[in-house]
Amino acid sequence: MPEINYIDVFFSVHAFQEEELRGKTAVIIDVLRASSSITTALSNGAKKIIPVADMSDAMKIANTMDQKDFLLCGEKNGTKIEGYHLGNSPAEYEPEVVKGKTLIFNTTNGTKAIKKSSLANQIYVGTFLNQDSILNALKDHDDEVVLVCSGWQGRLSIEDTLFAGSLLHAISGGELPDSAKDGAKVAFGLFQKFGDDLEGAISKSDHAKRLAELVPNGDIEFCCKVNEFDVLPGMRDGILTNLNG
Ligand code: MLT
Repeated sequence: MPEINYIDVFFSVHAFQEEELRGKTAVIIDVLRASSSITTALSNGAKKIIPVADMSDAMKIANTMDQKDFLLCGEKNGTKIEGYHLGNSPAEYEPEVVKGKTLIFNTTNGTKAIKKSSLANQIYVGTFLNQDSILNALKDHDDEVVLVCSGWQGRLSIEDTLFAGSLLHAISGGELPDSAKDGAKVAFGLFQKFGDDLEGAISKSDHAKRLAELVPNGDIEFCCKVNEFDVLPGMRDGILTNLNG
């Protein structure tokens, strides 16, 4: 396990510079909903996921591939992008839709956080759905770890911070030392306050309110489930695959 004092939390995509992740391990968190959709897709048999920062990068990659091999996936401000095969609801990533496919994934904050973390030695994508897979993977790390919360357009998101706090709670055995970093203390404290009722807290979050009119009813409830999948999305050469597969 990483030394608890070497675990930091960044609270949004705008809260760090690329260089700050060089040589570290990064866990990218976007509970609502990119991390949850990516985790679900890999669990349901997607072959690989190529995260991109914007629509133009998505099209460039799509143009190099055979139409039958890929799906264009993602959202802008919560809504499926026109012309894309799938939006960003985990419910869309069913086995019969994604099995064997390469998903080109483009979201407002989540995939931007993944791309911005590219100087990290190792990138994982984590959420409540695959919490234990992330914890198991971190057992092999004694380097510095950053829990990168995607947030929303530069702002903190309670759901991402809660998941960072949940990881810290598990890693520290529920007792965070005074020597822990400030970011770790904030995330841990939030989890102590709301960890007993994740869905209650997350369903009242800014992003849940934003999504209320836009997405299927079950999305928030599903994204709050803990340890639904034994999947470890990990990055190699710009591509996410299931490292537990
Ligand atoms: C994002 O990347 O900002 C989110 O995943 C947005 C969403 O909930 O679709």
